[in-house]
Amino acid sequence: MTSSADTHAPVPGADRAPQHPPVERLSGHIRKLVPAERETLLQHLLRLDPLSRFMRFGGVVSDNALARHATRVVSGDASAVGYFIDGELRAVAELHPLGKRPGKPAAAEAAFSVERPWQGKGIGSALMRHLVLLAQNRGIEELQVVFLPNNGPMRNLAVHHAAQLQLDDEEMVGRMRAPRATIFSQAREMLGDLFSLFSSAFDLQERMLPPHLRGN
Ligand SMILES: CC(C)(COP(=O)(O)OP(=O)(O)OC[C@H]1O[C@@H](n2cnc3c(N)ncnc32)[C@H](O)[C@@H]1OP(=O)(O)O)[C@@H](O)C(=O)NCCC(=O)NCCS
Repeated sequence: MTSSADTHAPVPGADRAPQHPPVERLSGHIRKLVPAERETLLQHLLRLDPLSRFMRFGGVVSDNALARHATRVVSGDASAVGYFIDGELRAVAELHPLGKRPGKPAAAEAAFSVERPWQGKGIGSALMRHLVLLAQNRGIEELQVVFLPNNGPMRNLAVHHAAQLQLDDEEMVGRMRAPRATIFSQAREMLGDLFSLFSSAFDLQERMLPPHLRGN
């Protein structure tokens, strides 16, 4: 990965002209989740407030369903990137490849979850940029995001990334084109993978220490 903006630096884009409540500058980093972080992902999903959980999954989902979902994300062909603040996972973007359809572009579905206290600070937008990089390097041509029509932040996020919106039944579907992979996009992801490896080991170690011995 990643630009310095992703490693303990302000959230990229957070200093844009605000169109919503005042944007705060955050320190944190974005990195891929590794399979050993299923429990970390699950705890993040369980921390979502009821409305965010509803918006993320397009309906009511049980804790057990979240546990199954977390397993699917880390063990299937999905990829996930997380936003970590002080070693805690506070936001996630998931990329789920969709099956090949004859005559259609290779597509994947993107999904986002930002814990309530960290919403509206530019984290969703930063995660979206990383997801586009992952999609690009996997030969995915079209990124889709499905959300409820009354989800203003998600609609803005999609529109900001040039998605074409369409109302399908009761859901909005945003479709955007991912650029072709380049040697630079692949190098960025490879560097990010190295960072993820070290950082996940560090974050895990940090979580195992008693609070008074943690570095934050
Ligand atoms: C939707 C979600 C991912 C957006 O992430 P975020 O970090 O809160 O959003 P950002 O701060 O990056 O802002 C994204 C856009 O929404 C706008 N926005 C932020 N908060 C807003 C609010 N309360 N009302 C309206 N627009 C808002 C921003 O201006 C920005 O638009 P821009 O790109 O044109 O500037 C996040 O709020 C979330 O996880 N919600 C619950 C789960 C969910 O709805 N998931 C989507 C379905 S998969």
